[in-house]
Amino acid sequence: MIKISPSILSADFANLQRDIERISSADYVHVDVMDGLFVPNISIGIPVVKSIRPTTALPLDVHLMIERPVRYVEQFCDAGADIVTCHVESDTEENIHEALRLIHAKGKKAGVVLKPKTPASAALPFINEVEMILVMTVEPGFGGQKFMADMMPKVQELRGYINEMNPACELEVDGGVDPDTAPVCIASGANVLVAGSAVYKAADIPARIAALRG
Ligand code: DX5
Ligand code: ZN
Repeated sequence: MIKISPSILSADFANLQRDIERISSADYVHVDVMDGLFVPNISIGIPVVKSIRPTTALPLDVHLMIERPVRYVEQFCDAGADIVTCHVESDTEENIHEALRLIHAKGKKAGVVLKPKTPASAALPFINEVEMILVMTVEPGFGGQKFMADMMPKVQELRGYINEMNPACELEVDGGVDPDTAPVCIASGANVLVAGSAVYKAADIPARIAALRG
């Protein structure tokens, strides 16, 4: 079963509750957190996660694009995140292990994220301790960018590692996913698709979510 995780980065922040209710047929709510250091943009943080938590029954899939996420993962869990993913490029390997441990100690799911230039092998030190691996199919920082089809071999490679080492682990893709690019992501082995602009620019959001599932 393919899961859809619409990114609220493309929502209207003045009407966030309404825009979260509009994606109720999705599987997760993808929350993009940016600190202006790890990526050249600043988005939303802990108070917003806390405010949106009571507005939906869907799990909150929180994508941390911040330096040294180990400093903040517990606060995101306490604010209501269900899945917290950390970029492998954002700290030392030791500190990423510690961040994953802290997320699990809060009873939440943990994952690692790979930027486009980061090889699949960078996920291997963490593969037995994550519930999700996220492959960026754009450079993180902004919604509405062009899908990088050249990331598909990496998705396939990770699908192979996951099947062999941790079959319950989810494989998510993020960036430029729309009804035209979703099928190749699914064929490459992704089972969770993030989509921001493709969902929120659609005239009929439930129909677009259904179309992305394929
Ligand atoms: C980019 C974010 C994505 C982004 C996806 O840094 O991680 O989640 O919102 O937006 P689209 O689907 O418009 O590429
Ligand atoms: Zn994201």
